[in-house]
Amino acid sequence: MRTIVVHRSKYGHTRGYAEWLAESLGADAAEVDETPSLADYDAAVLLAPIYVGRMPGVAPFFERAAGAPETVLLGATVGGADPAAADGRAAIDAAIDRAVPEELKPRVEWFHLRGGLDYPRMSIFDRFLMRYPLSQMRKQQRERGETPTPISETMKSVVDFRERAALDPIIERIRALEAREAADGE
Ligand SMILES: Cc1cc2nc3c(=O)[nH]c(=O)nc-3n(C[C@H](O)[C@H](O)[C@H](O)COP(=O)(O)O)c2cc1C
Repeated sequence: MRTIVVHRSKYGHTRGYAEWLAESLGADAAEVDETPSLADYDAAVLLAPIYVGRMPGVAPFFERAAGAPETVLLGATVGGADPAAADGRAAIDAAIDRAVPEELKPRVEWFHLRGGLDYPRMSIFDRFLMRYPLSQMRKQQRERGETPTPISETMKSVVDFRERAALDPIIERIRALEAREAADGE
């Protein structure tokens, strides 16, 4: 079975996941702007980060997917949001809903991976965009009776929620497809 892992990444967290996944699966890999014809693959996995409630730059993957109706499509959002929290789940679902063309929605099975935030490496624009979520975090800390983390401190920090085991559900899904294909071929 031929599988390809396609990714987009600005600060490298999603690229790291894509490299781990392609290695574990023995799959091909491509950046989203260089997505090849997906008709040559039995399965294609898109890994893409969420930025301000959106999944920017993923259109080339879905254009190729539209031309490959037989290819199984999996997607994984990468973000700071925690899918175990109700508001985190809703934000992830909204980003997916905006990014995927209507006719392809039923074809994509989604997963979520937690990424990271590297404030010292962020562009000034991205730091500016992060001020709103940080002020929300400080508000929640105050409501819980905690001392809010100063924004100046947060801006020095590097947070990385990634773990290789988070990819296991995606790997299991691909392995199940491989097993089914092998059984069909017998
Ligand atoms: C400006 C900015 C906005 C972000 N907005 C969101 C968001 O709306 N939801 C979310 O879950 N994560 C958000 N994140 C976290 C990123 O998705 C996370 O850092 C991800 O790991 C980035 O992947 P990359 O390093 O591959 O670009 C944001 C990060 C930045 C820098």
